[in-house]
Amino acid sequence: MRYISTRGQTPSHSFTEAVAAGLAADGGLFLPESLPDLSTRVTGWAGLGYAQLAAEFFHLFGPEIPLDEWQALTSEAYGRFDHPEVAPVVRLDDRTFVLELFHGPTLAFKDFALQLLGLLYRRQVARTGQHLAVLGATSGDTGSAAIHGCLGQSGITIFILYPDGRVAPLQERQMACTGADNVHALCVPGTFDDAQRVVKEAFGDAGFAREVNLSAVNSINIARVLAQCVYYLWAWLRLPDAARAAGVEFVVPTGNFGNVLAGWLVQQMGALPGVRFRVATNQNDILHRFFTTGEYEEGEVRASHAPSMDIQAASNFERFLYYVLGEDAARTRAAMAEMKSSGHLSLGHVPATTLCSSRVDDQGIVQTLAHVWQQYGYVVDPHTACGFFGLASDRVSVVLATAHPAKFPEVVQEASGVEPVHPSLEALKSKPLVRRRLAADLGAVEEYMRRALTVPPSIAVAP
Ligand SMILES: Cc1ncc(COP(=O)(O)O)c(C=O)c1O
Repeated sequence: MRYISTRGQTPSHSFTEAVAAGLAADGGLFLPESLPDLSTRVTGWAGLGYAQLAAEFFHLFGPEIPLDEWQALTSEAYGRFDHPEVAPVVRLDDRTFVLELFHGPTLAFKDFALQLLGLLYRRQVARTGQHLAVLGATSGDTGSAAIHGCLGQSGITIFILYPDGRVAPLQERQMACTGADNVHALCVPGTFDDAQRVVKEAFGDAGFAREVNLSAVNSINIARVLAQCVYYLWAWLRLPDAARAAGVEFVVPTGNFGNVLAGWLVQQMGALPGVRFRVATNQNDILHRFFTTGEYEEGEVRASHAPSMDIQAASNFERFLYYVLGEDAARTRAAMAEMKSSGHLSLGHVPATTLCSSRVDDQGIVQTLAHVWQQYGYVVDPHTACGFFGLASDRVSVVLATAHPAKFPEVVQEASGVEPVHPSLEALKSKPLVRRRLAADLGAVEEYMRRALTVPPSIAVAP
């Protein structure tokens, strides 16, 4: 199994190399050279537990790692989830199911990928003997999930930049109250874009990147997409026969297009017959516009009740485009160049796929959240509420619940009257918060990182 770049100008990589590199050198995203055929395998996997299923799946994509090592990795990663089924499928009624993806350490679906990625980094360190400095920027969920994936891993130090006052208080606590020596949550002035700019500049400083052995933690690593494929198979195998026979729509709250792409890729592998996928957006609806008009046009990001989906440039879209353009890297390269120069891409038609879309504004999120509570006695977070908006009448819906409602208590309480709580978040409230403030400036961040990496971790605290 080799991995190629969507832009076709990078030599192929092994799984381990593609994971370590993150982004291809030509600016493209890694994809498997060819997708395995799962159509005959899937039913044989029906009796597997979640970690076993993940190991079998990953062994197809990373065959250089022996199956027993995959089993150890996935058992460790998913053993940290607080539900015995890891990703329980909850039946609300005969036509409505929820795939709960919030039982990981940071209570968001990102834990599925980042718990495993942290262990793959650890494996990389053990094999190369080189310390790894993991760097990323976050608007909330990715940073905390990445931190908890690397927490306490020897040979890895993680640095996450987040915008001051622009992440939810509990998200900040998940990042800044770990007490772990190898974790540095850094609060910078400005917006997520300012934090992201400094991160990009640090990777652009090749000398520094080499000096500290820098690795990116962002949403485009192929391991993240593959880890998210597993729960679609898992959910499919757990649905009642009658539900599968009626036709299924997976409804996926979407921002960067990573989560829904994973499901769609599983279908390209010959699994999930007859399934449709709904790209459920908030008011930042670039993808809904694309799936209704064939025009991809970046707009202004407007803050919403579902902040992790406040995105207007979906970084995983390029992978989808590659397939839609006939797996033609030259066309993908040209399309991405057009998008970069004009912020716009026109396919001239809506591609014929199994994807459809929806959009809901903040008022709709609040109304939907209230409605789901009244109808089913089930509390959802505002991202998941985007999925519950306008459920299909012709199919069985499986809505992906991407975050625990207790991560967003204000809007949940406003809409449903219920105060959502989770013990791990309650415990965080009494922990000391060390807010390490830095300038949103490359020099300041590099200096901080050099000091943290050379002095004993316990005294590596920002001024
Ligand atoms: C809670 C939550 N829901 C949905 C999404 C959207 O997922 P994706 O960016 O993979 O489309 C995110 C991620 O950014 C998230 O944190």
